[in-house]
Amino acid sequence: MANVLYIKVNPKSDEQSRSSMLANHFLEEYKQHHPEDTIDKLDLYKADIPFLDVDVFSAWGKFAAHEELTETEMIKALRMDELTSQFLEADKLVFATPFWNLSYPPMLKAYIDTICIAGKTFHYTENGPVGLVPEKPLLLIEARGGIYSEGPAAAMENSYRYFKTIMGFMGLKNFTSVIAEGLDIDPNQTEAILEEARQKLTEIASDF
Ligand SMILES: Cc1cc2nc3c(=O)[nH]c(=O)nc-3n(C[C@H](O)[C@H](O)[C@H](O)COP(=O)(O)O)c2cc1C
Repeated sequence: MANVLYIKVNPKSDEQSRSSMLANHFLEEYKQHHPEDTIDKLDLYKADIPFLDVDVFSAWGKFAAHEELTETEMIKALRMDELTSQFLEADKLVFATPFWNLSYPPMLKAYIDTICIAGKTFHYTENGPVGLVPEKPLLLIEARGGIYSEGPAAAMENSYRYFKTIMGFMGLKNFTSVIAEGLDIDPNQTEAILEEARQKLTEIASDF
């Protein structure tokens, strides 16, 4: 029995978000093929995701100096630990996110900052950084208004490029992505693009 961690990166309701609807389609298909598995949902806009703020930096300094943390520092440090453990312990990972202003919503960056922890998800060696997250199935579902996989806007794509780099940095080098793009260019094409993405997700669901 595997545990899937589904990370929703969107403040919108599922009905208003194409990436969330695609993720729900995938998870429904996945459940049919893997009825014994469990799926935990982490909604980054509802979960308590700490930012790397003054309390977190202070907590890190105090840990290193073996000093006592304030209650706020302790709460944030423990929450970061909890989120990192959840990420490490999940058997499979599914991210669903929109493309905003040439990149991802800030909560995804906040989450990545929370789980990208030296000694836990990566460490530095004589030969440079090495990822510590064991390889596991990872699916990225992304919805974009324009087209960035090719053409004149390709150089402005700062989402997938970053995601691939940071996941590889932590050890997750092989992952699958379904990126529905061009959704806002021609409303007559939107449904066909989404249907193509749904079909890809249906195919992926059986062996994921
Ligand atoms: C705040 C915001 C910024 C956006 N920025 C871009 C952008 O830079 N490039 C683009 O192609 N689409 C952009 N879009 C369009 C979204 O990528 C597109 O509508 C996508 O379907 C959103 O995913 P969702 O339906 O899951 O929310 C933006 C949308 C919003 C709300």
